[in-house]
Amino acid sequence: MNVRGNFHWTERRTGGQSPSRLTIVAMRTQVGIVGSGPSGLLLAQILAQHGIESVIVESRSREYVEARIRAGVIEHGAVDVLTEYGVGERLHKEGLRHDGVYLQWPGHRERIDFVESCGQSVWIYGQTQLTKDLVNARLAGDQQIHWEVSQTRIQDADTDHPRITFRDASGHPRRIDCDYIAGCDGFHGVSRNTIPESIRMVAQRAYPFSWLGILADVPPSTDELIYAWHPDGFALHSMRSTDVSRLYLQIAADDNVTNWPDERVWEALSTRFALDGWTLTSGPTLEKSVTPMRSFVSAPMRWGRLFLAGDASHIVPPTGAKGLNLAIADVNKLAAALVRAIQDGRDDLIDSYSDDALRRVWQATHFSWWMTSMLHTPPDADPDAAFLRQMQITQLAYVTSSHTAATGLAENYTGAVLPY
Ligand code: FAD
Ligand code: DHB
Repeated sequence: MNVRGNFHWTERRTGGQSPSRLTIVAMRTQVGIVGSGPSGLLLAQILAQHGIESVIVESRSREYVEARIRAGVIEHGAVDVLTEYGVGERLHKEGLRHDGVYLQWPGHRERIDFVESCGQSVWIYGQTQLTKDLVNARLAGDQQIHWEVSQTRIQDADTDHPRITFRDASGHPRRIDCDYIAGCDGFHGVSRNTIPESIRMVAQRAYPFSWLGILADVPPSTDELIYAWHPDGFALHSMRSTDVSRLYLQIAADDNVTNWPDERVWEALSTRFALDGWTLTSGPTLEKSVTPMRSFVSAPMRWGRLFLAGDASHIVPPTGAKGLNLAIADVNKLAAALVRAIQDGRDDLIDSYSDDALRRVWQATHFSWWMTSMLHTPPDADPDAAFLRQMQITQLAYVTSSHTAATGLAENYTGAVLPY
């Protein structure tokens, strides 16, 4: 056995095969982490700050992970967590603080003031930037990250010697013996399905529409986000900076990006955001993609020594911007639970992790479903379409005119409704 830093490596051969294929490199760590999205990277960052070592395995390349365009709104509490663990510096410098949001329907654009309603704000800072900050912070801290792995498996998670096995980027078999394993590998990862079906509860809903998202090289036409209801479908005007806009359109679930050349996208956006005295500035698109909409929760979030965090356990439709924030909230709780178990030998927080995390997950699932239902027009084929549209307009008028209703939206949007 040779020892590299804190990691104990063992080379082992099994008989009958050629040496190059036989060598299994095994290592030991305290926490094995599957996935280097925001959940996995932030977990490693928090654990490292508490002196706990971890190893991450990631199926994609570093370049791919850092370039993936996704969320843009970060809750106040999530910013506090990122700041506390040393990855908030650039966010505070380059991020945009938003104290409110606009809700729109034809002839109306009404602002909900978060600060006045519940005393909190949100920050606009792209997940791409946050991921880069996290990768840089981890690599500066000598984090072991195995990029481009394949055949990831979690074994013996319900025993006291759980293991992760995988093939590294060169195809060599490897094994990580862990005290605990964190499944941070997103919706399509392997962690969730390691938990036997017999003990899992799954609640889910698929929506009959998707979001077409564009990143545009044009200054935003608004100071704060606009969530717009329109008979043609929902539209969202967001941004990444004072120079770059991020916009979304509701499209049919079976539609695809090739049907949406730039001209058609900008025309639809102009129609859906139309308001007297206001114009939408168009510009070149830098990226275009389609996101299907679903709500999905798999519980429990723990099985033995395996803990799920983020999209590995739950997905929300993006209306309300909760996905990334839930991932950060999960990881903050999971890190505290692992620190307590590893350093104090106390299992109380790992025992309550799943229930504690799920309280916030269900709250965000409800809010995202509610926002989605209020803002997305039902397909024309829905026999209740006329009724549902009128209910949506009535809901929008109420939530923007009642202080109590507006506070409910503000508390949920900013994440103030539950403690981190
Ligand atoms: P992920 O970011 O999915 O990270 C999981 C990581 O695990 C990935 O890097 C993946 O490559 C890796 N992995 C997967 N399988 C394996 C394996 N077998 N072995 C090793 N590694 C593996 N949220 C919002 O709030 N607003 C948005 O606008 C928004 N847009 C989105 C658009 C898309 C297309 C998607 C997919 C999500 C979007 N989300 C949005 C949700 C948000 O981005 C996620 O909630 C967030 O990324 C969750 O982070 P995570 O680390 O849990 O999972
Ligand atoms: C963004 C995404 C969302 O889902 C949302 O509700 C608000 C903003 C964004 O990508 O900027």
